[in-house]
Amino acid sequence: MDLAGWEQRYRSEMDAVFEPSPTPLLAETVSHLPPGRALDLASGTGRNALWLAQRGWSVTAVDGSPTAVKILRRCAEQMNVVVDAQVADLERAGFTIEPDHWDLIAMCYYLQRDLFESSKQGLVPGGVIVVIVLLAEPGKDNSFRAQPGELRRCFEGWEILHDREGSDTWQHKVAEIVARRPVSEVR
Ligand SMILES: C[S@@+](CC[C@H](N)C(=O)[O-])C[C@H]1O[C@@H](n2cnc3c(N)ncnc32)[C@H](O)[C@@H]1O
Repeated sequence: MDLAGWEQRYRSEMDAVFEPSPTPLLAETVSHLPPGRALDLASGTGRNALWLAQRGWSVTAVDGSPTAVKILRRCAEQMNVVVDAQVADLERAGFTIEPDHWDLIAMCYYLQRDLFESSKQGLVPGGVIVVIVLLAEPGKDNSFRAQPGELRRCFEGWEILHDREGSDTWQHKVAEIVARRPVSEVR
């Protein structure tokens, strides 16, 4: 679905779209990390951003849907947590990922290939990225889906903490990766 489609969906389901539980892979990953600076790209209504903020992370969440961000901000207020929630179209370079800055970057259920390199550079050395994307399937609109093996190729040379292609809890076919930026890199 494109951004306009998402905005429409959030508007039409305004009170129903907040999903309270974080992505299980993100929760599992974070359970091994000390809190730091986290960036949630295409955050939606903020299930991961809010959960991280509750656990002491300093979180920036970015989504292109003004309605999703409005819901996120409202939830943050209700939960009494701080999230720097920004509306930005990532496909139009609406948000710049600061290099060497983030301890954790989450990109869950969002595929934008040209974000991979800036996200990788955005992590501090030793920082961790969690990516989940839908996998291409015959007979589906595959414009927002990755090819098998594509995700893992993006992280060649990184420490891979998790790498899986299969079904998620909703029975979607997904590719998942958790990778750590090398502490010393040959540039
Ligand atoms: C499947 S939802 C995932 C939300 C969240 N990451 C999660 O896992 O719950 C995809 C999100 O991508 C956002 N999105 C789509 N295109 C975007 C764009 N060009 N810039 C920023 N966000 C975008 C949508 O608004 C939507 O919230």
